[in-house]
Amino acid sequence: MIRRTPTVDLATTIGSLRLPNPVCTASGTAGHGDELARHLDPAGLGAVVVKSLHAGPWPGNPAPRVHATPAGMLNSVGLQGPGVEAWLEHDLPPLVATGARVVASIWGRTVEEFAAAASLLADAPPEVVAVEVNASCPNLEDRRNLFAHSTTATGEVVDAARAAGRPLWAKLSPNTPELPEMAGAASGAGAEAVTVANTLLGMVIDVEARRPLLGAGRGGLSGPAIRPVAVRAVFDVHAAHPGLPIIGVGGIANGEDAVQFLLAGATAVQVGTATFADPAAPARVLADLAGWCDRHGVREVAELVGAAHVVQGSADREESG
Ligand SMILES: Cc1cc2nc3c(=O)[nH]c(=O)nc-3n(C[C@H](O)[C@H](O)[C@H](O)COP(=O)(O)O)c2cc1C
Repeated sequence: MIRRTPTVDLATTIGSLRLPNPVCTASGTAGHGDELARHLDPAGLGAVVVKSLHAGPWPGNPAPRVHATPAGMLNSVGLQGPGVEAWLEHDLPPLVATGARVVASIWGRTVEEFAAAASLLADAPPEVVAVEVNASCPNLEDRRNLFAHSTTATGEVVDAARAAGRPLWAKLSPNTPELPEMAGAASGAGAEAVTVANTLLGMVIDVEARRPLLGAGRGGLSGPAIRPVAVRAVFDVHAAHPGLPIIGVGGIANGEDAVQFLLAGATAVQVGTATFADPAAPARVLADLAGWCDRHGVREVAELVGAAHVVQGSADREESG
């Protein structure tokens, strides 16, 4: 049984939401319901973010859908899910019964589909404490460019999600140099926080078959391989929008990884790919984080948030090459 260090105040504030600690699951890596409850206490996490839901059932992509890569994995699961109504009826109740705070993630191919998914969440129980708007999926009306690669589309999907009547987190893409602008657009449209970030676009080729290896061809890269990219993304968004809460995600596998994200400016973190190797990873990261704070004389985890920005210009000198 993993025990938390009691002397550290781990509470964090994300917009209007107060969480008992900053460690959450990452969408798509913890199931739709209480799947992780056999391995950890979901109520002990900051929140459980479930896999992105479309308004209706969605089959996802053809197999193979996942492939191990150096220090990470490539996936093309393709947002398979039961749809919001079936989720509310079948998957959510056992998760709520664990005492967890639940964040519902939604996606769509059009702004209208985001609005439909959000409307269906309007009557969800109060344990659904926020909605994460997965803006990092293809926009059918913009030649399949990601919503989160356009300030206009990012603002539109966030605005559409207001129908859920809950605090909104916008899940952004690391695949654009304009990530801070996307964060600004999400905030301007009503998002209380931004989740930074989704997977990096990637591909693996099967050299014997001479074809892309994943069934869908293209995929998303996650795990420790992307951590420096995600830390920098959080750092840049915090620098541009110091008052905007950020949930940092990308390659977090232990407490020190989480500390990096907090120092870069995140007020909370999510653990994703690490959960596939160790289903208790989010709880372990939380215990690690508390232990790290204790060893370093940190009494409140909130004092770490953005602390890497204090020395002005120190991070502005580096670039590759
Ligand atoms: C198999 C798999 C499925 C995912 N599904 C979703 C999803 O449904 N919605 C979403 O917003 N992100 C999804 N993600 C992205 C993760 O939530 C996270 O942003 C990303 O993997 C980076 O974090 P990590 O390196 O800790 O996994 C998925 C990631 C993986 C590996």
